[in-house]
Amino acid sequence: MSVNKNENTKIVTVQRIREMASRGEKIAMITAYDYSMAKLVDAASIDVILVGDSAANVMAGYQTTLPITLNDMIYHAASVVRGVKRALVVVDLPFGTYQGNSKEALCSAIRIMKETSAHAVKLEGGKQIVESVTRILSAGIPVMGHLGLTPQSINKFGTYVVRATDEEEAKILLEDAHALEDAGCFAIVLEKVPALLAKRMAEELKIPVIGIGAGKYVDGQVLVLHDMLGINEDFSPRFLRRYLTLGQEIRSAVSRYVEDVKTKDFPKDHEQY
Ligand code: KIV
Repeated sequence: MSVNKNENTKIVTVQRIREMASRGEKIAMITAYDYSMAKLVDAASIDVILVGDSAANVMAGYQTTLPITLNDMIYHAASVVRGVKRALVVVDLPFGTYQGNSKEALCSAIRIMKETSAHAVKLEGGKQIVESVTRILSAGIPVMGHLGLTPQSINKFGTYVVRATDEEEAKILLEDAHALEDAGCFAIVLEKVPALLAKRMAEELKIPVIGIGAGKYVDGQVLVLHDMLGINEDFSPRFLRRYLTLGQEIRSAVSRYVEDVKTKDFPKDHEQY
């Protein structure tokens, strides 16, 4: 039997995510919403692909994540899973599909797992969702938590500013994190909180903390694909590192194509039958 020596080709599981964190290996997570992008990011050895409800913003053009439906998320997640060979695929439960009660949460999670073949779900919130987390886990579905800036609660908070900057909110945040860990979440996404608070959370918890705008002391990082590639050019928070200016590249490529069609340069003889 040949043994594959390349760690990067091993399939990423929930257990492997925990092992990575415990040996100090940082976890790289990114969002994706379709087959082609999922195939590319998976081939680049990403550990976790999040089918985020940020699809509402970057794929559908909504101002908030609230309008996206469970059917929409299932469509995106099933497309992503078809493109993935290695990464762990986590899917957001969208707004309104788990807050009502734990039975509704379980039904939503089951639909995602059955209809997409994804590997885990993510829910926003702390103590108030523990019952739902427990019930989803009882069906054998791994759950990732999401604390700090929780975009599904934007109407409660009113802004997307940094969260837990005062002691009281920081205390609640840590309590929520422990509640999610005790309930059995395998990891927590921590969005837009001060780096030292994120450090404290990562040190206190046994499960991995994956940050977005939460500094360098956590167990991993997540970015929205369209933001880091420069496709979404309207969003430039301090935490965002842009790896490409794909928006400009795409405009330039399409302008050249338009020009070639108008000037009858395209197609040439060798480009026709
Ligand atoms: O929906 C999403 O993309 C997310 C990330 C910002 C973590 O939840």
